[in-house]
Amino acid sequence: MTSAIRGMWHHLAQQPESYERKQYYTFGRVLGAGTFGEVREAVFTPDGRHVAIKVIKKSGLSGDEAMVLKEIDIVRHLHHPNIVKLLDWFESKDKYYLVFELCTGGELFEEISKRGHFSEEDATNLIRCGYDSISYLHDHNIVHRDIKPENFIFKDRSRDAPLMLADFGIARIMKSDDEVLSTMCGSFGYAAPEVLLRKGHGKAVDVWSMGVVTFSILCGYSPFWRFEEHKALMTAMLSDNIEFIDTYWWGISDNAKDFIRRSLKSNPDERMTAREALQHPWLTGESASTRDLLPDVLHNFNARATLRRAVLKLQAVNRLRKLSHGPAGRSLSDSSSTSDHERPQSSEMDVDQAGKSDGPTEKLEQQQSPEPCSPPTDPKDTVPGSWVP
Ligand SMILES: Nc1ncnc2c1ncn2[C@@H]1O[C@H](COP(=O)(O)OP(=O)(O)O)[C@@H](O)[C@H]1O
Ligand SMILES: [Mg+2]
Repeated sequence: MTSAIRGMWHHLAQQPESYERKQYYTFGRVLGAGTFGEVREAVFTPDGRHVAIKVIKKSGLSGDEAMVLKEIDIVRHLHHPNIVKLLDWFESKDKYYLVFELCTGGELFEEISKRGHFSEEDATNLIRCGYDSISYLHDHNIVHRDIKPENFIFKDRSRDAPLMLADFGIARIMKSDDEVLSTMCGSFGYAAPEVLLRKGHGKAVDVWSMGVVTFSILCGYSPFWRFEEHKALMTAMLSDNIEFIDTYWWGISDNAKDFIRRSLKSNPDERMTAREALQHPWLTGESASTRDLLPDVLHNFNARATLRRAVLKLQAVNRLRKLSHGPAGRSLSDSSSTSDHERPQSSEMDVDQAGKSDGPTEKLEQQQSPEPCSPPTDPKDTVPGSWVP
């Protein structure tokens, strides 16, 4: 088909102009499932390059297509060795296609769990990569707002592959350093207390989430696993008292614990910044131990997988969302738009109602990667509730 005929065909089929570019890609296997669609490997046929294409169904966006355009607008300007690059994008009548550089190394937890050995020292290298990308974002006044293990992918399969940050679906550009964003956003278990309490938030939310990620990769369970009920969980998150159970934390350096405590400060003003994290002795020094943490980490990752699946079924969607204002799983606005005037909702309500949607449940069930849950052999162990991250 000549391009003139093809153009006419697209016009007749009411396809957007950019749809023309879809012909250059041959789609392959599914790499990951996300909130609104899936990410598939594809080949850019003109030069044979393999890429990752995030396919987002417009029908799932409930008319808020601006959300995807925002994601494109943010990510196309990012140039950092630890951030996935956007190479192209196009759309059809029904879908958006975001073409990214392909990362072949798999998601953070999944890949760690396949390793033969994983130490605190290995963790520092990964967390440093994470903070390199986050401090770059924060320097450019961008808050990611959905830092979690599924959004970190290894660039390739080599042992020292860089960790890449992906998914700018709910990222925001702040107009100034002290702009306050106010929507509910993030993912269960990783969202900072100021997000859950709707106190207004900023860059510090990414540091909190990194604190949860850091804690979890060192022991395989989440820092607040013990607290099932929303009120107790909030009290724990606000207590500035992070518990390091000896059974799992013996031999892990005091620097690691100090790093985590500073990341999980309940007051965002007291929390260390991404830049400070990079300067912290845990990341700059040599105190991190080389003890193999993997047996404990794996034990805790897998111990309650069945329960976790049941919990996920109830939660149904991994992202906090505002049901009355938009599609599942995404926060739709920040202080620059309508959110400042929205009627207040409790996070519990979001959690409850999130469980009533069917669509995303399927997607979550497909996600097989291990997730940290509660330490099962601790004497004080109780069955964790719906707040297990
Ligand atoms: N560039 C990429 N290369 C390889 N896999 C990717 C890439 N981008 C995303 N993925 C996989 O797809 C999943 C979903 O992508 P993501 O951008 O996080 O979508 P969502 O916004 O729906 O969560 C990721 O968790 C990851 O497993
Ligand atoms: Mg994601």
